Amino acid sequence: MEISTTPSTTAVDDARLAEILENPGFGQHFTDHMFTVEWTPDAGWHDARIEPYGPLTLDPATAVLHYAQETFEGMKAYRHGDGSIWSFRPEENAARMVRSSHRLALPVLPAEDFVQAVDALVAVDQRWVPDATSSEKSLYLRPFMFGSEAFLGVRPSQHVTFMVIASPAGAYFKGGVKPISLWLTEEYTRAGRGGMGAAKTGGNYASSLVAQQEATQHGCDQVVFLDGQEGRYVEELGGMNMYFVYADGHIVTPATGTILEGITRASIIELAGKMGHQVEERKFSIDEWRDGITSGEITEIFACGTAAVITPVGELKWDGGSVPTPEGGGDLWRRIRQQLVDVQFGRAEDTFGWMHRIV
Ligand code: PLP
Ligand code: COI
Repeated sequence: MEISTTPSTTAVDDARLAEILENPGFGQHFTDHMFTVEWTPDAGWHDARIEPYGPLTLDPATAVLHYAQETFEGMKAYRHGDGSIWSFRPEENAARMVRSSHRLALPVLPAEDFVQAVDALVAVDQRWVPDATSSEKSLYLRPFMFGSEAFLGVRPSQHVTFMVIASPAGAYFKGGVKPISLWLTEEYTRAGRGGMGAAKTGGNYASSLVAQQEATQHGCDQVVFLDGQEGRYVEELGGMNMYFVYADGHIVTPATGTILEGITRASIIELAGKMGHQVEERKFSIDEWRDGITSGEITEIFACGTAAVITPVGELKWDGGSVPTPEGGGDLWRRIRQQLVDVQFGRAEDTFGWMHRIV
C-alpha cells in the first residue's frame, strides 16, 4: 500500500504535549495526524493517506449514520526503555477486524495493510507515545471502518472508509487498579445467537449503554451481560472479558460463541497455561459464580481488555441480590497482569513472539 503524507501545520507544541502526556486520561486527546484509505467495488482500497487530524465532512445520507455498518479495533503502542516503539499482536487485531467486517458485510482490509496503516500513523506521531518511565501509559490506537456511501437503501455500502486515529492513554478506570463493582443486568442482553456479539462493531456498544447507565445508577462500575437465550450464562462486561480463579488453581473464562474474543483474554490463556494453571474455556453460569463465592472455591475474579488491561472484580449486584467480593485473597490477577505489561513494555522476554516493532 502506498501512503501519501501531508504533515500538520498546527501540531501541538512540545509544552502542551508534555502537559497532555502527564495526565492523558482515556480517549480525550488525539494526535496530530490520522490515517485514511477508501474502498469502492471497482477500485478496491485506494488513496491511502496520512493527513492532519481533523473533522470529517459527511453527507447526511452517509450509510453508517443510518444503518451502523461499522467495525473497529482497539490496540496500543508501547514505548520501551530504549525509546523504541512496539505494538502487541497487531496481526490479531487485523484478523479480528476481518472477522468483524465479514459479519457487517464490509470489505476485507488485508492484514498487512492494516498493520502498515497503524505503523505509519504511529511513526508519524511517535512523539505522542508516552515515555516508558511514566508508569503504564501508552498510545491507544483506534482503527475503524465504516460504510461511507451517501445512500439510504438498505444494502452493503458501495463506498467504505477505513481510518486509524490515536490517543494517549493512562488508566482506564479513574480509581486506578482496584476491584471494580459489577451490575448484573437482567433486562438487557448484548448478543444473541446469529447476532453480532463476536464482532467488534459500534452497535454492540450502543446497545450496552442503557445497561451501563443502569449499572452506574446502582453505584456499580461496569455491567455484566448474560446470554440472550437462557439468561443464565455469563458472557462479558461492556468492554472486557472475564476470568474466574478457583482455589485448586484452575481458571475458567466464559466461551459462548457470542462474546467478543479478546486478544488480552487469548494472551492470558497462554500466560496462565505457562504458569501451570489449567484454563477452561466453557459456559459459566451465574449460579456457579454465586455458589463458588459462597463455598470459597472461587478465590479471585478479574476482567481484561486492551483499554483496561487486567482489573480485579469485586462485588456483583442485581435487583434484589448480590454476591460479595471473593475472599480468597489470591493475587494471580496481579501476577498475570505484571507479566503481560512487562512483555508489552519490553521489561520481560517476549517468549511468545507477541511484540511487533514499529519505530
Ligand atoms: N469484550 C468487549 C465487549 C470489548 O469491547 C473488549 C475490548 O476490546 C474486550 C472484550 C477485550 O478485547 P481485547 O482484549 O482484544 O481488547
Ligand atoms: C478496548 O479495550 O480496546 C475497547 O475497545 C474497550 C472499550 C474502550 C470500548
